Amino acid sequence: MRIGIIGAMDEEIELFQEGMSHLQQKKKASILFYEGEMNGKSVVLCKSGIGKVNAAVTTQILIDEFKVDRIIFTGVAGALHPDLDIGDIVISTAAQQHDVDVTPLGYEKGIIPDQEKSVFEADQQLISLAKKASEEVNEGKVFTGLILSGDQFIADRDQVRELYETYDGMCTEMEGASVAQVCHMNLVPFVIIRSMSDKADGSAHVNFVQFTRLASKRSYQIVDKMLKMM
Ligand code: ADE
Repeated sequence: MRIGIIGAMDEEIELFQEGMSHLQQKKKASILFYEGEMNGKSVVLCKSGIGKVNAAVTTQILIDEFKVDRIIFTGVAGALHPDLDIGDIVISTAAQQHDVDVTPLGYEKGIIPDQEKSVFEADQQLISLAKKASEEVNEGKVFTGLILSGDQFIADRDQVRELYETYDGMCTEMEGASVAQVCHMNLVPFVIIRSMSDKADGSAHVNFVQFTRLASKRSYQIVDKMLKMM
């Protein structure tokens, strides 16, 4: 078993770097990959960079070059569901790109033409494991549901309402659905774990700066427990 762990930013991976042993560093397509062990498991950790293209390239390299057989995305997101507070957790049941828009050709928003699917389901076993791990960590409320991704930092209440009403998404971020799509194309199981750094509203830019470290830690604690339980 070899587990790929992706975060988009330094804050999202730094606790993992501290928790890993036998670290070996390799660079590919300007992305740094850290091979090593965490809680006795073989792990490849990386910082993808922000956005869907970075995340997609990173995921394909993890699969092709580092031969990982499951992928966990760890990090922060903006809350869409009204019951979510900063620090709460969303475990993905599935992920979808909210910025795919081919509506002029008659497709619904978020639908990728000629693709067998546009909502990419996470792995049931990894979801169960993440739920169990989050119960043990016991910090913040834990939700499972659809995670939305787009190449946009959302900081507007009206956009939050629109995303929530159009897709029924729990939270929004900028990488998960592209990781999900690449995993689906390669038949690799994945799960996304996101802790809320902000509510994607008019205060999002301030909250994001203030709470990204706390939220990243919550996500890290869950993945840490998951690795112990594997
Ligand atoms: N990641 C964390 N907060 C976000 C937001 N409001 N929009 C997009 N990605 C995010």
